[in-house]
Amino acid sequence: MLMKNAASEKSLFRTPHMAVDIAGVRFKNPVLTASGTFGYGLEFADLMDLNSLGGIVVKGLSMKPIKGNPPPRIYETASGMLNAIGWQNIGATEFAAKKLPALRNYDTNIIVNIVGFELNEYLEVTRFLNDCPGIKALELNISCPNVSKGGFHYNKDPRDTFTITAETKKASPRLPLWVKLSPNVTDIREFARACEDAGADALSVVNTFMGMAIDIEKQRPRLRFRTGGLSGPAIKPIALRLVWEACQAVKIPVIGIGGIASAGDALEFLIAGARAVQVGTANFYRPDASQSVALGLQEYCRLRHIDDINELIGSLRTYE
Ligand SMILES: Cc1cc2nc3c(=O)[nH]c(=O)nc-3n(C[C@H](O)[C@H](O)[C@H](O)COP(=O)(O)O)c2cc1C
Repeated sequence: MLMKNAASEKSLFRTPHMAVDIAGVRFKNPVLTASGTFGYGLEFADLMDLNSLGGIVVKGLSMKPIKGNPPPRIYETASGMLNAIGWQNIGATEFAAKKLPALRNYDTNIIVNIVGFELNEYLEVTRFLNDCPGIKALELNISCPNVSKGGFHYNKDPRDTFTITAETKKASPRLPLWVKLSPNVTDIREFARACEDAGADALSVVNTFMGMAIDIEKQRPRLRFRTGGLSGPAIKPIALRLVWEACQAVKIPVIGIGGIASAGDALEFLIAGARAVQVGTANFYRPDASQSVALGLQEYCRLRHIDDINELIGSLRTYE
């Protein structure tokens, strides 16, 4: 008994192994920030410790700057938010010149989310970023519901998903390619398999859910774009189910996204099979949410004598 207590006391003071591997890239812990909810990362440098993160996924980049949709383009809902920002971004050239050099000073992995209205635009920005030192992976966004061309249009038919994934993979020989999937489909497993067959290195699951809100006084949509993408705690159970389904369907790593705001939320996704998670909307109301998720995961492992976070991944049990 004495020996057992001594052993468990020892593991209570040991720092658990928190690193995960995604397509040959080491992440110091499985917590990343989600694209579009954390700017280019640097905006949060005074609000939290960027070095505490496994990675930062920056706002979707196109080759040339894009203004995005006109306001109103954000609306708070019950336990969530609707957004129709569109693809507002500074463009890949300015990102590489002005943001990436500063981001490289942090001990965290930089992932770039890529967008395009046509296939050629996706390929052009992919080729450009493939040659930029300091980027660890690309995340192909084919799931944005807030644009009238491109984006989600490549996530409506698994054959189109296959084509864009295969072409983008060819254009990024140096960097692993993650494909970010839409929840707005009948069976996410078909799209997950299409990506895997086309050579994707990992999947990010999921983007926002198409939604709508109406101002009953003015009798018009709350968003100028009319519909928007719903995110935040409201979507968590549905996102978790989709992540679990995707994990069953493919062998490549799945990164879980959707309503994650606490270590407990992140653990649910890891247990369901996600190799890592991304924190999104929570960053808007608690700028250091991702850091506290990372710390909370470590504390959970330490208190339960789990030596390696990888032991938890996919550890979901069934009823007897
Ligand atoms: C304001 C806003 C902007 C977003 N911009 C992007 C984007 O540029 N690219 C992308 O792939 N996803 C984008 N997303 C989707 C998030 O990365 C994430 O997939 C989604 O919000 C679900 O996670 P959450 O519930 O934790 O926010 C955006 C989400 C929000 C709320």
